[in-house]
Amino acid sequence: MRTEFRCKMEPLFSGYYANMLNNRLSLRHFFLRNAAIFTELNLRNKRVLDVGAGFGMKLVCLSLMGIQEGVGIERDSDMMNGFLDLVSLFERLNIKPVKGDIHDHDFGLTAFDAIILENAISHIGDTEALLERLNRILSPTGVLYISDDNNNLFPLSFVSRWKSRKEAESGTEDMLRAARSREVDRTPFRDLRAEMIHEKFPQVDQQTLNMLVKGTRGMTSNQVKEAVGEYVAHGERPRKSAFPYRNPVTGEFAEKGFDPLNLARVLEKSGFKCRILRPPDFYLKSANPGLPKHQQVAASFLLWAMKYAPDRAVPFMYPSFSIVATRL
Ligand SMILES: C[S@@+](CC[C@H](N)C(=O)[O-])C[C@H]1O[C@@H](n2cnc3c(N)ncnc32)[C@H](O)[C@@H]1O
Repeated sequence: MRTEFRCKMEPLFSGYYANMLNNRLSLRHFFLRNAAIFTELNLRNKRVLDVGAGFGMKLVCLSLMGIQEGVGIERDSDMMNGFLDLVSLFERLNIKPVKGDIHDHDFGLTAFDAIILENAISHIGDTEALLERLNRILSPTGVLYISDDNNNLFPLSFVSRWKSRKEAESGTEDMLRAARSREVDRTPFRDLRAEMIHEKFPQVDQQTLNMLVKGTRGMTSNQVKEAVGEYVAHGERPRKSAFPYRNPVTGEFAEKGFDPLNLARVLEKSGFKCRILRPPDFYLKSANPGLPKHQQVAASFLLWAMKYAPDRAVPFMYPSFSIVATRL
């Protein structure tokens, strides 16, 4: 089974899950983390939606633990193909992969008892529209779980995010090659836009091209072509995008940071009651086993300190955060 799976999914899957595939402790960590989520959200026999489900590994894991139905929505085609391959190996599990954008897909009112976003909210452009949609499709007694590695209240988060955005927009291919497994993610966004513009508008000179490449930051390929077409036809310069870091080919946003306290306040305004979780106890024994040793030591120290810190200090102490939101 493993051979068949690896043949179909290489290299994206093995790149994405390199830690888990090469380190047994990492794999154990993944299962323990999902078991903790299963218990925390009380997911037995529940209908669960995973937004930005990636390859669907979380849903497989939660289904094996006893959820009634798992639906995973994923907008990226390569990820979705991997998700379909994975699910085909577990035919008895009730998992439905849905290809599409959460903003466009209508699941119907109150379709789910639980909605999970793990490292997905930071990739989704319009948070307000997203929360409005989730509010509609979650049952009145439902639970929303948002967990992300981009905690703005943890001071060092800014540095690493700034570095990775800069690399994604204008880094060298060598830098990106080390961190990403897919060709389209290894090319800086700036170069992808330059290629698109040059291909469609070969008459544009180098200086104008540079201006247009800069002016179209944050746009998808269609938006780039439209904006450059306007410039070529009417001399109108492209308008700045609200969020300037986006892969123009896949449409994926570079990660945004979140202030978990502010996110909780926004959720509370739309009728949720929020809790910011402390990491589960097993983290103390095996904090991020896939990380290099010095980072593991730092992570263990932070997690240990968090265990004993007062509630109000918890959101500031770790690069990731997890919020559980239930209706009042
Ligand atoms: C960092 S990955 C996380 C995947 C998975 N949740 C995990 O923890 O491994 C974020 C995923 O969200 C997906 N995504 C981003 N925006 C989306 C949207 N608007 N609708 C559905 N999926 C989206 C991306 O394609 C990507 O696979």
